[in-house]
Amino acid sequence: MEFYDVIRNRRSCRKFSPDPVPKDTLDRIVEAGTWAPSGKNRQNWRIFVVTGQKKDGLVAVADRSFHLLEPSLKKLYDEKIVSFTRGFFKTLGGAPVVMVFYSDVTDEGSFVDTQSVAAAIQNVLLAAAYEGLGSCWMTNPVHLKEEVDEVMGVEGLELIAIVPVGYPAKEPPIPPRKDGRISWIGF
Ligand SMILES: Cc1cc2nc3c(=O)[nH]c(=O)nc-3n(C[C@H](O)[C@H](O)[C@H](O)COP(=O)(O)O)c2cc1C
Repeated sequence: MEFYDVIRNRRSCRKFSPDPVPKDTLDRIVEAGTWAPSGKNRQNWRIFVVTGQKKDGLVAVADRSFHLLEPSLKKLYDEKIVSFTRGFFKTLGGAPVVMVFYSDVTDEGSFVDTQSVAAAIQNVLLAAAYEGLGSCWMTNPVHLKEEVDEVMGVEGLELIAIVPVGYPAKEPPIPPRKDGRISWIGF
């Protein structure tokens, strides 16, 4: 796939096939994450690739986090989308793998650390799309950070996002892009 096609074709996927993802494919996409830029090249990301019982634990936390999202979702979208999203949070779309992105806590400050990990996440999402995999960047479960930490057995790291990954069960819809978000100055 062409570079710009990968960027345009990456979609947030919320319905996955149960087919397992080969470990070497997962290895390639997380390695792509580690080639992201980072503040002072600290490479402060900590990426966990999770399946099995711990994945089930993460799904349960995501489900418990949905009610925190529901009111704002209801303001923006109709009941069909709210109920679809509720179903997605219940199972994380049946994703066979969940990635958990943490950051080391550094003296750069959280805005630098977070942006570095976000760059790694986007690399992973694009690499996943290139490999024919679906993914969904999710921050809502971060509201229940303590519960995610407990499932993961992690202490002293900053939770940035979780990302379910797997082969898409169906093509996600394409959310339209807003016009007028780019300003050209001095051209
Ligand atoms: C920082 C961030 C947080 C997000 N959190 C969630 C989330 O908690 N749950 C979810 O279903 N989608 C989440 N998304 C996915 C967005 O809803 C999605 O990117 C957006 O609707 C555009 O769709 P697209 O990714 O298919 O282009 C998040 C995306 C970003 C970048």
